Amino acid sequence: MERQTLRPQIYEVPHKAIRNALSQLTMMSGYTDYNDSQELEKLQNSFKEIFGMLDVHAAHENNVTLKHLESKIGGSSRHDMEDHEKIEADMRSLEKLFSGITEINGDRTAAGIEFYEKLSEFHANYLLHMLEEEQVTQPLVWNNFNDEEILQQETEIRSAIPPGEMLIWCKYLMPAIGDELRIHMLSGIKANAPSEFYDSILKVTESVLSKESFGNLKAKLN
Ligand SMILES: [Fe+2]
Repeated sequence: MERQTLRPQIYEVPHKAIRNALSQLTMMSGYTDYNDSQELEKLQNSFKEIFGMLDVHAAHENNVTLKHLESKIGGSSRHDMEDHEKIEADMRSLEKLFSGITEINGDRTAAGIEFYEKLSEFHANYLLHMLEEEQVTQPLVWNNFNDEEILQQETEIRSAIPPGEMLIWCKYLMPAIGDELRIHMLSGIKANAPSEFYDSILKVTESVLSKESFGNLKAKLN
């Protein structure tokens, strides 16, 4: 199927944020000293935050994108829905593995290596899952909905994200997208949300971009 890159891409924004978040998490699980309780807690916080994003993301895909697709073609959502169930089961067992590590009183090094490997395997499978959604499900969405309908689905997803969660998403999303999309998102928030929320989003953006990148973005925004 031909890629129609100029049409709205339902997966682009969340998947770019997730690719960044999962890369950071896998790397962190590799450099963490599992015997240092402060480092372990830092990893635990990122793990919770990022897995929270993945849960929310799967729910959005199930309740919006796949639901609409299913209403057009019966059975078309089954494969991705089943993938999400499998991913969810893997996530719960990784969480169990991690909480087991926090309960170890002796040396946690071996358990840390096991967690790093299992998380890397999960990461690899998740990357393939997202690619399949982009290469198989996205063209199906294009073939069954016009641009306006796809943008409406995006709005449906975006309005289901509470402000606190949006700040977390932006933390991982902003470094992973270019200025054009950053400006598009920031202008949308500026036009539709309270100014305090816009300021918080801008603050998060500043905290995750280099001084130079943020300066360039600010210049384009003003
Ligand atoms: Fe998915």
